[in-house]
Amino acid sequence: MEEKTVRIGVYPGSFDPLTNGHLDIIKRASKLFDKLIVGVFCNSAKKSIFSMEERVELINKTLAVYPELHNVDVIMFEGLLVDFVKKSGASTLVRGLRAVSDYEYELQMAMLNKHMCEDIDTIFFMTDIKNSFLSSSIIKDVAKNGGNISGLVPEVIIDDVKNKMSE
Ligand code: COA
Repeated sequence: MEEKTVRIGVYPGSFDPLTNGHLDIIKRASKLFDKLIVGVFCNSAKKSIFSMEERVELINKTLAVYPELHNVDVIMFEGLLVDFVKKSGASTLVRGLRAVSDYEYELQMAMLNKHMCEDIDTIFFMTDIKNSFLSSSIIKDVAKNGGNISGLVPEVIIDDVKNKMSE
């Protein structure tokens, strides 16, 4: 009998914290793969607020609300993205594009990853227009200053984000 190939995708990011924009990409990308791995990474260019463990916890808490996302795993990793992808048995990376301004950075990352590992391709989802103005930083700023973040991050993690930002 012919063995079925398991299609595994990796959606990497710093997720500091997860936003509705990220969640939308997870929902759409999960339909393309047998397994989608959300890879929580440390972006050395950014100073994070949530620890890696907290970020993973917030994503898992959100996924628990959506039974249809049963094929999504969350894993944290320190090191090179390509090493993580190879270790995961995946060869496809997923990223979201919000605006033209994201393109240059994303192109650079996709090319660099391809340079380091020829077998790895990156596919891009156009961010839903309603999330196109979002970023984790802007949400942290709103929460820190007591603004309303409902509709910006998944409902189930609103209090966690607010509490963290008021520490
Ligand atoms: N809708 C709305 N906002 C979105 C979004 C979407 N669909 N997708 C991303 N964003 C926002 C995020 O909230 C985030 O905002 P911020 O800049 O205020 O934090 C920003 O866009 C992008 O962040 P995110 O998607 O979380 O990931 P990142 O760009 O920080 O991730 C890594 C980069 C982790 C993938 C990259 O640094 C990496 O691969 N690191 C591992 C080390 C390595 O291999 N380096 C070489 C790789 S080239």
